Amino acid sequence: METFKTSPMPVLTRLLGEADLSQLVNLRECILNGIKSSELYLREDDEFDFLTKHLALSGRTVGVFKDGELIAYGIVKLDGDPIEGGTLSGQFNLILRITKSAIMQSSMVKKEYRGLGLQGHLLRFRERIGRERGCETMFSQVSLANSYSRENLLTNRYVIVGIVRHSNGSVRHVFAKSIDRSFYSCDASSTGTWVDAKNINEQEQLFEKGFVATRDDFSERLRFIKHNLTI
Ligand SMILES: CC(C)(COP(=O)(O)OP(=O)(O)OC[C@H]1O[C@@H](n2cnc3c(N)ncnc32)[C@H](O)[C@@H]1OP(=O)(O)O)[C@@H](O)C(=O)NCCC(=O)NCCS
Repeated sequence: METFKTSPMPVLTRLLGEADLSQLVNLRECILNGIKSSELYLREDDEFDFLTKHLALSGRTVGVFKDGELIAYGIVKLDGDPIEGGTLSGQFNLILRITKSAIMQSSMVKKEYRGLGLQGHLLRFRERIGRERGCETMFSQVSLANSYSRENLLTNRYVIVGIVRHSNGSVRHVFAKSIDRSFYSCDASSTGTWVDAKNINEQEQLFEKGFVATRDDFSERLRFIKHNLTI
């Protein structure tokens, strides 16, 4: 039994396979239909292909079940480009090219089970998979409007290392976590520079100067700290 934020809840967490595909498609469809802004999450061009290839070929999909029902899932991509479709300026571009990465691709929780910490649980489960595969760096791309995912990644010691603008117009923060923390260090005592979470230009200037964002403040502001790259 796993224990979550508000109450102990008996759930089963396991890797999904082909036999779980219809439950996965239904859960995702139900959640996607409930997302009002396309800025928050964009459907894949071929949803079925996307889900199928992350069951075994390009990655793994982790599912959380309650009484046999799939209530949440998270995908980890174990090959490919973490910045897919965009370019990342600044120093972390180098880390992208020289380290083996796992990409936290997509996670969704059924409405009735939100606020229990399931997204963080799925994140840590997928990190273990990445680590077992020898990945040194974990990456994720998240919409600037998705404050819940941002909060969960920052709490789990990811830092925001840049912004990617995609050709379809979407803008995403890039999160990274060095598993043994060997690539960068930040001065924890620094008060840093607080920037409006929606001010893309100011954030981009700081990323260019070698800053990363390490915390947020009720989703309104992000704290930037200068980091030292040690590769
Ligand atoms: C983003 C998402 C995965 C977060 O999952 P989660 O397991 O609910 O995350 P948490 O339990 O850490 O909760 C995060 C916050 O969600 C809020 N929340 C959202 N819906 C809630 C609900 N119905 N009940 C309670 N809290 C809710 C809470 O304020 C909570 O903050 P807290 O720390 O103050 O409790 C989930 O909201 C979701 O599936 N959203 C739609 C899909 C999506 O945007 N996915 C991310 C991009 S792939």
